[in-house]
Amino acid sequence: MQAFGGVITVAQQKGGSGKTTLAATLAVGFRRLGARVALLDTDPQGSLGRWFMTRRERLGDDPALEMSTASAWGVGYECDKLRRLSDIVIVDTPPKVDSDLRPALRAADLVIVPVAASHLDLWATEGVLDLCAREKRPVAIVMNRVKARTRLGAEIAAAAADLHAGIAQAQLGYRVAFAESMGMGLAAQELPGATAAHREANALVDEVATALAREA
Ligand SMILES: Nc1ncnc2c1ncn2[C@@H]1O[C@H](COP(=O)(O)OP(=O)(O)OP(=O)(O)O)[C@@H](O)[C@H]1O
Ligand SMILES: [Mg+2]
Repeated sequence: MQAFGGVITVAQQKGGSGKTTLAATLAVGFRRLGARVALLDTDPQGSLGRWFMTRRERLGDDPALEMSTASAWGVGYECDKLRRLSDIVIVDTPPKVDSDLRPALRAADLVIVPVAASHLDLWATEGVLDLCAREKRPVAIVMNRVKARTRLGAEIAAAAADLHAGIAQAQLGYRVAFAESMGMGLAAQELPGATAAHREANALVDEVATALAREA
């Protein structure tokens, strides 16, 4: 029995903010902690599914990493099923915020909202934060594609902290390992030599695991 568990939904209206990358990073991170992980792709683009199939071809079958898809309205039922079989369920969502997103938020024990370091991304979080508040779901904003020591990065992080949604301490930098690994069906933690990406991904996984701690 893991000391943590639950459903993580990754959501953000802005396209390309890093939802699918974060979903894969968390999946591999939780597998490395020994958890059974189920992925649920609700995005018709199917990027997470593509990543999973690429991974499977590369590494073979991992019985503790499952992948399924669901329509927006099937999410609740699918999550109920998956959480019985897995420690962690990770739901990837399409880049829009409308009533279709509600079942994926409702099913979540934690909603992760990636914000790439731009004002456009930050402005786009309002909708998902509103919906999370209505569904009374805990939220963690995760700063992604952060360029170290830039004024914009610091400004966005400060503005995100003002949104009164939880903001994760862990941040992912703008690093080629995050982009490159996805096409290989891997996560940045699995690329040799990508030390900074490893450190950032591990810190994020630890923080999320703590947020999903279960009573022993
Ligand atoms: N930390 C990072 N460093 C560098 N590149 C990144 C990082 N995170 C994501 N990317 C790249 O940014 C692009 C968008 O990422 P991703 O596909 O994960 O976003 P998304 O929110 O799932 O997009 P969509 O809204 O289309 O589903 C991809 O090319 C990805 O490789
Ligand atoms: Mg995506």
